[in-house]
Amino acid sequence: MRALVTGGAGYIGSHLVRHLVDEGAHAVVLDDLSTGFADAVDRRARFVEGDIRDPALVRSVIEAERVDAVFHFAARIRVDESVKDPAKYYRDNVAASLALFDAILSGPARVVVLSSTAAVYGDPDPGVAALGEDHPKRPLNAYGESKLVLEGALARYGQAYGLRWAALRYFNAAGAHEDGSLRERHEPETHLVPIALEAAAGERTALTVFGRDYPTSDGTCVRDYVHVMDLATAHVAAARHLAAGRPGGAFNLGTGRGSSVAEVIACVERVTGRALPVVDAARRPGDASVLVASAERAERELGWRPTRDLDAIVRDAWRARRPRAL
Ligand SMILES: NC(=O)c1ccc[n+]([C@@H]2O[C@H](COP(=O)([O-])OP(=O)(O)OC[C@H]3O[C@@H](n4cnc5c(N)ncnc54)[C@H](O)[C@@H]3O)[C@@H](O)[C@H]2O)c1
Repeated sequence: MRALVTGGAGYIGSHLVRHLVDEGAHAVVLDDLSTGFADAVDRRARFVEGDIRDPALVRSVIEAERVDAVFHFAARIRVDESVKDPAKYYRDNVAASLALFDAILSGPARVVVLSSTAAVYGDPDPGVAALGEDHPKRPLNAYGESKLVLEGALARYGQAYGLRWAALRYFNAAGAHEDGSLRERHEPETHLVPIALEAAAGERTALTVFGRDYPTSDGTCVRDYVHVMDLATAHVAAARHLAAGRPGGAFNLGTGRGSSVAEVIACVERVTGRALPVVDAARRPGDASVLVASAERAERELGWRPTRDLDAIVRDAWRARRPRAL
């Protein structure tokens, strides 16, 4: 495989790049470093600093590197920011990605794997234990909407231009490479596992729990945490599936097992051996009570199964943050 990874200097993209080069694939990263880090890009990959909105650059990279598959991670990812400034998400996610797709279509590469999200579902129908891909999609914010728009564009482009595409709807990506050399780095950090680890490390005074009155077993929100290296294997499986001419579309990526905020806190305390300072706050508007994936389609069609649980996620993330702590 000869892969172009947009956003490959970011959290999930850099883990995919590591997996690709470990598997002997050729990887080229296109990243403008707006939220990513050049030192996260494996040295065996080629790094091009630039914007996905630059069609001449995209075309020249695809041609020069003889790219056959594009993994498209580059995006803005903050739900709260997308509520305050939706225009940024239509510009930086929708318009920028459409420009990227145009540039791809003018060249030979025909396989595109899009990073999508569980945020396309919004607040799911109550009582549904695990969401399938056909569950109604009612995004609550411009972030989720931006990914749904891109999925729709890819579906049309697939029919009209022969683009082979998959939209991988990650639930909650977490964890780090097992060897501790790569980790989640978002500034500011908005994700629970790294925030809890920052609190465990004493880098943050406390962890805030938003709402203990949800209709869940312990009152805190339930999410499906999926290890970033399991996401990496899913991307390779999806690209191979598409390259073999098999049907694409949307695939949920999760473990099918929900963990509450309180369970994540308990897991972090167990793995780190430290008590977490916790403060309680009111619910945040727009947080669904429960978001758990049914990833049966990915298992059935891509042959993908996550192999790491919440303990592995927290252990790997903690090891990457504090190499001497374990
Ligand atoms: N982190 C999660 O839990 C999660 C969940 C669901 C979906 N996703 C999706 O996965 C993808 C990656 O998320 P992440 O957590 O790694 O985010 P990240 O911010 O760490 O990575 C995004 C990368 O894209 C780059 N980038 C942004 N705009 C660009 C542009 N116009 N041109 C070139 N590079 C650009 C950034 O510099 C950064 O390196 C995103 O598309 C996100 O929507 C993430």
